[in-house]
Amino acid sequence: MSTVEAKTTPSEIIRKHKEFLFPAVAMYYQEPIALVRGEGHHVWDDQDNKYLDCFGGVLTVSVGHAHPKVTEAIINQVKTLQHTSTLYANKPQSDLAEKLYQITPGPLKKSFFTNSGTEADDTAIHAAKLATGRHEIVVLRHSYSGRSATALSAMGHAPWRPLLPQVAGFVHARAPYCYRCPFKLTYPECGLACADDMEELIMTTTTGEIAAFMAEPILGVGGFIVPPPGYFERAVEITRKHGGLFIADEVQTAWGRTGDKWFGIEHWDVQPDIITSAKGLGNGVPIGITVATEDVANKYPGLTFSTFGGNPVSMTAALAVIKVIEDENLRHNATEVGGYLRQRLEELKEKYAAIGDVRGMGLMQGLELVKDRETKEPAPETVAKVFEETRRRRVLIGKGGLYGNVIRTGLMLNSTRDHVDELIQALDAGFSSLSAN
Ligand SMILES: Cc1ncc(COP(=O)(O)O)c(C=O)c1O
Repeated sequence: MSTVEAKTTPSEIIRKHKEFLFPAVAMYYQEPIALVRGEGHHVWDDQDNKYLDCFGGVLTVSVGHAHPKVTEAIINQVKTLQHTSTLYANKPQSDLAEKLYQITPGPLKKSFFTNSGTEADDTAIHAAKLATGRHEIVVLRHSYSGRSATALSAMGHAPWRPLLPQVAGFVHARAPYCYRCPFKLTYPECGLACADDMEELIMTTTTGEIAAFMAEPILGVGGFIVPPPGYFERAVEITRKHGGLFIADEVQTAWGRTGDKWFGIEHWDVQPDIITSAKGLGNGVPIGITVATEDVANKYPGLTFSTFGGNPVSMTAALAVIKVIEDENLRHNATEVGGYLRQRLEELKEKYAAIGDVRGMGLMQGLELVKDRETKEPAPETVAKVFEETRRRRVLIGKGGLYGNVIRTGLMLNSTRDHVDELIQALDAGFSSLSAN
């Protein structure tokens, strides 16, 4: 099949998906794709079409599909010990906890393992409430935290929030969304008005004393919104003034994704009391981590339990992923190749008026599409068109943003400039197809 030929054969996998899964389990593309195989930077669908995967199942395949070292470690562990529950210690769990102590910033020391980002965030929120004896949490508009009742109430996105009662205690601060500044100001003349506004938020909508401020260093689902320099320093200062802990939700931004650092928050001069992460740590194996200071962790009373938390297979996968990132210097590669990607995306912006903003860090780069650069009216339908064309070119990308108008890319941490060139070529074809229609 030629690389641009449209798929015609209906997929049995898709048919069953549509018949037997909740309709809410939405898939990308007018004709959804059923994946059957992955290797390195590529995936194959059930009709043997090969795609360059530039989204990694939402920034989760971090070092490549079926990375031989990660796969081998997983297989060996499955053959040795597959499950313990948290009622018994196991070596991979103890080793990963020690490793996280070594690579997380500052005094973060104690880990709690779960299966997903949702659980990691839930655990962090509970820990902050228990440690401070308070219940109010400041979160950001445009944030995403998962799908438990707590996480759904924390997030700042109407489209993801079902019509269910909310968990009380969350207040939503203005996002540091410079492209659509909530105060219609420009950085740095704005004087970080969005961060300053947190103080009024706390003083007007809470008891004045909060349990925590929880934020993603880059708002991922929100459309790769990168807070400006100084934002977290100011926001965390206000948080501490009102008795709160700082939780960095690193579900998308950890493991070198943002370049050079293990964690996205390390690009700002602040110290989290709790870090959560998931996704890229397992390279596709389910995992969630909540790492806290001793002080916070010690105030989390027993009994608590997670059947699959600390599962030796997930722990082994995570240790192998971290080793690959270290051995192959992938944090630096994210800076290098991410820098090149950024430059190529900026070139596309020069060429196509539909691109209103290019933003991100490292290998977490996105494009916000607009109908008009002056009005900045969101253009989700343009994203949809670019999506279909890039898919025809056998390149997979992601989308996001409150208005569904942001193209998100999350190339693997070991990507090369050639992968970037292939992605750019597909995007270029996608944008040029707009005028052809
Ligand atoms: C920043 C952030 N936090 C939490 C979550 C929830 O993670 P999960 O889907 O693994 O429950 C996500 C998922 O996309 C996320 O992006």
